[in-house]
Amino acid sequence: MAGPTEFGLFFTLLLSWSFCATPEKKVCQGANNKLALLGTVDDHYQILVKMYSNCTVILENLEITYMTEKHDLSFLRSIQEVGGYVLIGINTAPRIPLENLRIIRGHSLYDDKYALTALLNYNNSIGQGVNQLPLTSLTEILKGGIKFASNDHLCNVETIQWTDILNMKSQPKIKEESNSAEHCKKCDRSCYNGSCWGPGPQNCQKSKCLLGLVPTKQNQFCLVGTAATLIMFLCFVTRIYTSFWIQTT
Ligand SMILES: *[C@@H]1O[C@H](CO)[C@@H](O)[C@H](O)[C@H]1NC(C)=O
Ligand SMILES: *[C@@H]1O[C@H](CO)[C@@H](O)[C@H](O)[C@H]1NC(C)=O
Ligand SMILES: *[C@@H]1O[C@H](CO)[C@@H](O)[C@H](O)[C@H]1NC(C)=O
Repeated sequence: MAGPTEFGLFFTLLLSWSFCATPEKKVCQGANNKLALLGTVDDHYQILVKMYSNCTVILENLEITYMTEKHDLSFLRSIQEVGGYVLIGINTAPRIPLENLRIIRGHSLYDDKYALTALLNYNNSIGQGVNQLPLTSLTEILKGGIKFASNDHLCNVETIQWTDILNMKSQPKIKEESNSAEHCKKCDRSCYNGSCWGPGPQNCQKSKCLLGLVPTKQNQFCLVGTAATLIMFLCFVTRIYTSFWIQTT
């Protein structure tokens, strides 16, 4: 008969195992088309949906171009990592939802210089353009600079402290036309140093956490990395216990 201790142990193991399942990562190739339009605008959209849907890691470049107001861009939400560069060009969709993009590695650069480029995201003849580029999770660009040009409707991005995101050792170029359009809302008052990607406290610029523990700026609560480390440690201990348990029963 199993006593309460065994039950307790079993329950703890079960609980730990449920955390140990690693979330599935889909790795995708990405693109190298620059600003080329592939077929009609709708063909182009379908190609992007096929290329990026459900991807968490993009090995090459992430190129988001020719997206308009009528296109559903929720397929971009899964993307967390880009190996090459990110290009956002000639879009008129009001919002490019890349909230989960954490890191751009910059193995290849746009124009040999830029890891992140946003250009011509405004069409004068229809008076529409990208208003919001909420890169709220982006805290690291390992190589290369940034370029923002001719995004007449874009809000708040000129408040971002790029030196906190870029790797200054790689001597990145920072080319930014700093204008926030008239229709833009201001950053939330709680945002550190007034830096945000959009209105509301959820869009404040986040800073890096050293070892998941130490904030590099005062606005950040850095426990995510610590929690992840703790869970990984628990998983490790559970694996050892489980194999020991199986061997002895
Ligand atoms: C993405 O994942 C969902 C749910 O797992 C699935 O239904 C859908 O077909 C996938 N889309 C593509 C393009 O792989
Ligand atoms: C602006 O939009 C119009 C209408 O959709 C289109 O015909 C034109 O090519 C666009 N201009 C640019 C520079 O993309
Ligand atoms: C705060 O913002 C100002 C103006 O944008 C900038 O010069 C300064 O370096 C920022 N300070 C920090 C700690 O990010």
